[in-house]
Amino acid sequence: MTEIAVTVQQTARPHGFPTTGDFAFVESAIPEPAAGTALVRNLYWSVDPYHREMMDDVPGGFTLRTPLEGRTLGRVVASRTPELPEGEIVFHRQGWRTHSVVRPEETRRLPHFDKVPPTAYLSVLGGTGLTAYVGLTRIARLREGDDVFVSAAAGGVGTATGRFARLMGAARLVGSAGSAAKVDHLTREVGYDAAFDYHDGLPSALLAETAPDGIDVYVDNVGGEQLAAAVGALREFGRIVRIGTISRYNTPDAPPPHFGHADVVEKSLRMEGFLVSNYRHLQDELYEFAVPHLQSGRLALDETVVDGFEHIVDAFVGMLHGRNTGKTIVRDRA
Ligand SMILES: NC(=O)c1ccc[n+]([C@@H]2O[C@H](COP(=O)([O-])OP(=O)(O)OC[C@H]3O[C@@H](n4cnc5c(N)ncnc54)[C@H](OP(=O)(O)O)[C@@H]3O)[C@@H](O)[C@H]2O)c1
Repeated sequence: MTEIAVTVQQTARPHGFPTTGDFAFVESAIPEPAAGTALVRNLYWSVDPYHREMMDDVPGGFTLRTPLEGRTLGRVVASRTPELPEGEIVFHRQGWRTHSVVRPEETRRLPHFDKVPPTAYLSVLGGTGLTAYVGLTRIARLREGDDVFVSAAAGGVGTATGRFARLMGAARLVGSAGSAAKVDHLTREVGYDAAFDYHDGLPSALLAETAPDGIDVYVDNVGGEQLAAAVGALREFGRIVRIGTISRYNTPDAPPPHFGHADVVEKSLRMEGFLVSNYRHLQDELYEFAVPHLQSGRLALDETVVDGFEHIVDAFVGMLHGRNTGKTIVRDRA
């Protein structure tokens, strides 16, 4: 165990892309657990786009110069509650710090599934996988034979969505991503049938070329022009799953997209957004679906794992710039 504890704190509110200068690493003594709590030494940290939204001066946003939250896995190293035995690995949300003092009700003990590495509990079995699972099963209500388009397809939610949709019987899977290397990765490794780089032209033209016969479902991680393009490409009774708007988080002044409002009526489209936090009750259902596929090798992990807590801010800023493939996770070096 290190002699000091370190927390990451936001120190400034960015306009546009954040930089490492908007954060500080702050050292303090290792906290002592009070009665009914336990001290956790954190081992793996999830890095998520929602942190960018919380960096703005918005209701519920981050308070400056306060330790940041985040999804984290850690080991209980000192306990003053029988509910959190020392040595246990727990999931909790007091991340972006090396040590956390947690109460049992703030944690989830991890199940022990054979052949499932710990990072999976932050990627395909964590909030990222649950988002993909809810989007397909509850919002799109995916049916066998549906043709599906996914944006930010090479990211955490996008790769999980592609792999889950394939296992659930989707027909043609089409994705978009931000580089030729990612497009290649999607079709070679992740199981997409076709993909395009959204920088290569107008999204409406690129989608029309990639999915010339249209789509039934659009899983939207980005909003903006790709959402407009998907409205045009959807068939009758098509469904749009609104998951995120990352094309706007760092460019708040970008003009809004122009999409065919009449299409929504004439094609009887349904658009529905959701927050994964309202679907935590489906966690066990996700395990039941995904764990056997992970164990059999039919479901692979897509992760960018960065070694060293000191790189957590770089990993976050890099993810916003698209430097990740799959879910971004930071791992303790120790
Ligand atoms: N509704 C919910 O409860 C929920 C839960 C989890 C995540 N989300 C949302 O889901 C989306 C994906 O999250 P994630 O955790 O899986 O992150 P991620 O996709 O692993 O990482 C973000 C990706 O966004 C892409 N991106 C960045 N700027 C973009 C732009 N201007 N246009 C298009 N793509 C851009 C980058 O890939 P490229 O190289 O391809 O550009 C980057 O890799 C985000 O919008 C996030 O807010 C929502």
